[in-house]
Parts: sequence; C-alpha cells; structure tokens
Amino acid sequence: MSADLSGQSHIVVGGAGYIGSHVCKMIAALGGTPVTFDNLSSGHDHAVQWGPLVNVDLCNVEKTREAFHAHKEAVSVIHLASSIEVGIGEKDPAGFYNNNVIGAYNLLEAMRANNLNRFIFSSTCATYGETENVPLTEDEVQNPFSVYGKTKLTIEHMIQSYHNAYALNYITLRYFNASGADPDGDIGEEHDPETHLIPIALEAAAGRRGKIKIFGTDYETPDGTCIRDYIHVNDIARAHILGLQRFDEGLTNLEVNIGTGNGYSNLQILQTIEKVTGLPLPYDATPRRPGDVTRLYADATRAKEVLGFEPAHSDLENIIRTAWNFHRSRWQI
Ligand SMILES: NC(=O)c1ccc[n+]([C@@H]2O[C@H](COP(=O)([O-])OP(=O)(O)OC[C@H]3O[C@@H](n4cnc5c(N)ncnc54)[C@H](O)[C@@H]3O)[C@@H](O)[C@H]2O)c1
Repeated sequence: MSADLSGQSHIVVGGAGYIGSHVCKMIAALGGTPVTFDNLSSGHDHAVQWGPLVNVDLCNVEKTREAFHAHKEAVSVIHLASSIEVGIGEKDPAGFYNNNVIGAYNLLEAMRANNLNRFIFSSTCATYGETENVPLTEDEVQNPFSVYGKTKLTIEHMIQSYHNAYALNYITLRYFNASGADPDGDIGEEHDPETHLIPIALEAAAGRRGKIKIFGTDYETPDGTCIRDYIHVNDIARAHILGLQRFDEGLTNLEVNIGTGNGYSNLQILQTIEKVTGLPLPYDATPRRPGDVTRLYADATRAKEVLGFEPAHSDLENIIRTAWNFHRSRWQI
C-alpha cells in the first residue's frame, strides 16, 4: 500500500479490540502513530503494541474531553469502541444505548470541542435488518432487527446531523463479518463471550469446547445453511487507511459497505476448518434462530468505486489459516 502516514497521529477509539488493534498495526506500518483510547472493557492491553494506550471510558464525559484535549495533534479519529454482543443487547438495551449511543455522543462532542473533524465510524451490516435483497447495497432500507443494530443506526444518524450542522467530515464503514487474524500472529480475535462462528468452531476443533450448533439446515441454499460475507480483518483495516487518504482528497459524507460481495455457508466454513486444521468438526443441527436471514452479503461496488477498496486477504482458507495460527499459538497447541 502506498499511503504514507509519517508524522501523523490518529486516535483509534477501541484500539485494544479485535479490529482496532489491526487498524493500529497498519497505521504504524505506514509511519503513523496510533493513539488508542480504550477502557479495556472487552479489549486487551497486550493488543496495544504500536502506540500509546489512553485508558478512558467514553461514558465519562470529563475524562473523554481531557483525553481528546491531550491529543489535539491527532488528524483523525477512528471510532470502533462499542458493545457488540447481540444477545446481551436484547437483555440490556439500556447498557447498549448508554455505551454505544451516549458514548458516541460524548466522543463527537469532545471532537467538536477540540476542532477535530475527520471521523471514521465502524458500523455494521446489522443496520439493514431482515432483508433478503442480496447483494445488499448501501441504499437498502435500514430497519435493524437487533438492539445492537439499532444503536449503530442511531449513531449513523447522529453523525449525519453533525456533518450537516457542524461540517464533520465522516466515513461510515458498514462491515460485514470480520474474520481472520494478523498473519504475523501478533493479534487476533479474543472476544469473551465469543459468538462468532469461526473462532467458536476453531475452539471446538481444538477440543476446547463441545460440539457447536448450526442454527437451521433447511434454508433455501445449496447445503441448507445460512450464507454470510466473511471479510479478513486486515482488509477491513485497509479500508480505514483508504478512508484516511480520501479525506485528503476532500471525500466526506460517505456510507459504504465493507464486504467481499461473496458469501460462504455455515457448512462451507466448517468444511474449510476441517481441511485447514486437519481435525474433525462434528456439529449439532438445531432449529433456526429468529432474525437470521438466509443470505447476507454485500454489494461491494461503492467501496471499489469511491474508496478504491478491493479485498486482498479474504480467501476463506486464508481467513481460517490466519485465525487458526493465532489461536494455536495462544492455546499453545
Ligand atoms: N467483529 C465484527 O465482525 C464486526 C462486524 C461489524 C461491525 N463491527 C464493529 O466494529 C467495531 C470493533 O469490533 P471488534 O470485533 O473489534 O470489537 P471488540 O470488542 O474486540 O473491540 C471493541 C473495543 O472497544 C472498547 N470499548 C468498548 N466500550 C468502550 C467505552 N465505553 N470506552 C472506551 N472503550 C470502549 C473495548 O474495550 C474494546 O477494546 C465495533 O464497533 C463493532 O460494532 C464488528
């Protein structure tokens, strides 16, 4: 990648988390300094290796403002901090709205107070809801099913209002399924609880948990299981770098899907895990879950046209190999 971030400092909110740590590593590889703002509620201090860690909770207005004031030199803010576990959001919507929406509001206000106006936001395909219109374009109606998706859509609206009223320059990246790990094995996916299929299935293959469940095997897909769009975390990280470059060219006010445009079924994931690990992966077929659509994959045209983004690492075997290598060294197997 040709981007040169030398001498630039970028605030990465949620930089101790899965995707944020990969963004930080890439910023540093391009000569920039990633400054992680994180309360370590789900992130890990060992994942912050390429710049300073500022331990700050976005829900603390004063501390958030102070942290931004202390890093006025930053040229952009990348906001990945969030409560992300969909099931917890259904049981505790207040906690989700507080952490995600109030947290984002506090962050935007701290940016405004410090005249920072370049903003990249981690949104999600979950803002589209229960549509069967695939591939999903950015113009699809947004009608999220989950509390998680609703909080993300509320933030998207807030950002658009800040753009209209306060000239905030923003790029909202609607990621599909983040997956894989840093090829060097320095960082990877370490959620607790883990709810994503690939790390759960790798745990099962390694004998660290019992059989995994596949929810629904009677969908109208070639093998009866749901299809999702898996994108390698380093491709997602690169989309942020392209966004930073496009700010320099005056791009703003953009919502864009970050996916591959292809889908893999749940069974294809399991079969590829068996192939890559050489281990058997038995599963239990259980009934469908409410809210799970048959197919969900991106129309990736806008990302290519506007950001110049094309996935380079999202071949399924590469995704699983990098994730497996990361977990194997972590589990010492
Ligand atoms: N993982 C995916 O597949 C996926 C898909 C679509 C969108 N996203 C979005 O991408 C972003 C990053 O996801 P991830 O998988 O890396 O999650 P993660 O949980 O690994 O990282 C989130 C980070 O934010 C921090 N954080 C949370 N609340 C905070 C607060 N109030 N103040 C300061 N820090 C706080 C956590 O400690 C953590 O380090 C999230 O916004 C998520 O909604 C993720």
